[in-house]
Amino acid sequence: MFLETKNINTYYGESHVLRDLSLELERGETVALLGRNGMGKSTTIKSIMGLVTPRSGQITFKGEQIAGQPSYRIARMGIAYVPEERRIFPNLTVLDNMQISIRKNGQATKTAGDMWDLERIYKHFPVLKDRSAQKGAFLSGGEQQMLAIARALMGNPDLLLVDEPTEGLAPIIVKEVRDVLAEISEAGMTILLVEHNLKVALSLADRVYLMGKAKIGFCGTVAELQAAPEIRAEFLEV
Ligand SMILES: Nc1ncnc2c1ncn2[C@@H]1O[C@H](COP(=O)(O)OP(=O)(O)OP(=O)(O)O)[C@@H](O)[C@H]1O
Ligand SMILES: [Mg+2]
Repeated sequence: MFLETKNINTYYGESHVLRDLSLELERGETVALLGRNGMGKSTTIKSIMGLVTPRSGQITFKGEQIAGQPSYRIARMGIAYVPEERRIFPNLTVLDNMQISIRKNGQATKTAGDMWDLERIYKHFPVLKDRSAQKGAFLSGGEQQMLAIARALMGNPDLLLVDEPTEGLAPIIVKEVRDVLAEISEAGMTILLVEHNLKVALSLADRVYLMGKAKIGFCGTVAELQAAPEIRAEFLEV
């Protein structure tokens, strides 16, 4: 298995936020992690990235145990994280924001056609080429989201963790972000996506995990979820 979390338990202080949470991703898959507010989706992603450390359970990535490792090491092993709040550096230009995350060993393990470099980024994100000399602070929400995704790709990761990429964006921009994620997925990237927009999530995902309180309540293909209105009602509808 490419990525596997097995029975992880994550806490914030005394608050038990993930209970024996298990999920798996195969290389090349796009998997959506969905659920209502506060169920623990972001915490799941942060646990994988090492931003919070599970108290128990295993997380293996490409066969190596990563739970408990610092997040910079997890990043070096090939996992990139696009946080909900995007964290663009406002005083750096678009170009500098991207160049900051070039990962040397990541580039070494890729063949030329597989590499994410500026030329390829600009092909998929033409708006970033137009804006390359502008400071991060002057970008629109959609442009910031594009930049956050592009910056993650510049590290040439093997797995992309993306938390709520379309949150707060106008519908037309939602579609642009969706389309760029579709291109990245089609190019072979493995993606774990947390997304509130069900239509967007189902249009991108191969498989879906639905979270109930602190644990996975459903795992299946998009077609299986589409054929099960009672499951959607239980885990998604408000
Ligand atoms: N830093 C923190 N300290 C304490 N509690 C937290 C912290 N971050 C999240 N929580 C709590 O942990 C639970 C899970 O939060 P998490 O952010 O993982 O949920 P989520 O599924 O991503 O929700 P949303 O859809 O609103 O983004 C929530 O009850 C939340 O209030
Ligand atoms: Mg969240």
